[in-house]
Amino acid sequence: MTLVTDVSLRRVLDSRGNETVEADVQTESGGFGRAKAPSGASTGEYEAIELPVSEAIAAARETAIPRLVGEVFAGDQREVDAALHAADGTDDFSDIGANSAVAISMAAAKAGADVAGLPLFQHLGGTFRGDTFPVPLGNVIGGGEHAADATHIQEFLAAPVGAPSVEEAVFANAAVHQEVGEILEERGVPSAKGDEGAWAPSIDDSEAFEIMAEAVETVADDVGFDIRFGLDMAGAELYDADAGGYVYGDKVRDTDEQVDYVADLVEEYDLVYVEDPLDEDDFEAFAELTDRVGDRTLVCGDDLFVTNVERLERGIEQGAANSILVKPNQIGTLSDAVDAVERAIESGYDPVISHRSGETEDATIAHLAVATDAPYIKTGTVGGERTAKLNELIRIEQNA
Ligand code: PGA
Ligand code: ZN
Repeated sequence: MTLVTDVSLRRVLDSRGNETVEADVQTESGGFGRAKAPSGASTGEYEAIELPVSEAIAAARETAIPRLVGEVFAGDQREVDAALHAADGTDDFSDIGANSAVAISMAAAKAGADVAGLPLFQHLGGTFRGDTFPVPLGNVIGGGEHAADATHIQEFLAAPVGAPSVEEAVFANAAVHQEVGEILEERGVPSAKGDEGAWAPSIDDSEAFEIMAEAVETVADDVGFDIRFGLDMAGAELYDADAGGYVYGDKVRDTDEQVDYVADLVEEYDLVYVEDPLDEDDFEAFAELTDRVGDRTLVCGDDLFVTNVERLERGIEQGAANSILVKPNQIGTLSDAVDAVERAIESGYDPVISHRSGETEDATIAHLAVATDAPYIKTGTVGGERTAKLNELIRIEQNA
């Protein structure tokens, strides 16, 4: 155990060219950790609050840093995160900003790992097991809030469920991404990439399903293991109460129609994963869909749960979803994120550790996924801020 002796905060760039918070934590015995906050675009209404970077830094300097420096041990993550909560004093980090909180929390964890001479995932209490590993869900076609004039569904995700290793899974997703690019070219569809590096063509969702099915099958044949696919529908972004339901351009589906539509998609495409198929306030419709397809696919709550144990409890009670997306910056600290994972596992919900659309080269979530033995990690396919996590997973596997 080693005392935190310095915490410094600065403004750095994220992958969208926006500013974000970077934290450096130093300890008495020479330990050092550095981490950066990611940032969402299709953020859930109930997430912890991200403040403008200059405000978050100023507030954390004033109230959080004095409670950390000379006061807490970098090796004791619970103590660090309790100090962040005490400094903030709200239940959503609206005083110091979830962006400052999560950067400090993750930097302290890395400093603790440095002092212990352990990789971060081991410091967080995990081991790389090899027989199970986090399967990367890779966004290969996307639209919604992440790209203008593209698909209505936010993310079409490759899921190499039969991959024998992390390395092969990561390369399979990259191959699906490449294959999708080739199919688009053959079809004469020009395409740029969205915020997460997925192709963002101006096509209907139905064409995206065709292309995904073809690309996944071609690559599965090449690599010789099973690859399926899934979706993040970002239902809260599609939902417009005034319009009477889920808006897909000119077409609007009411809640019952949306449940039917998603259940049909699961059936038709053998989807392995459906995230936020419904609005973030509609636990009931989530429960209905889970009842219908939960034995065949993961119904995952992102904006529904926002990595928040209280919202997860409500889901467990109602049978809404059977999986939870875990984004440390949605809740503000690593300890809170781990609590959500543990509560999920106890209740038979599969945790999926996730990046945000605005990312950095920070690879903490790769370690969090291994530490918690999560069955999935959602962290993109290509692009430096995505490969930072994927390559870290490959290194963890190789050194195991
Ligand atoms: P976000 O999108 O980071 O923009 O919120 C990712 C997601 O919805 O999973
Ligand atoms: Zn999502």
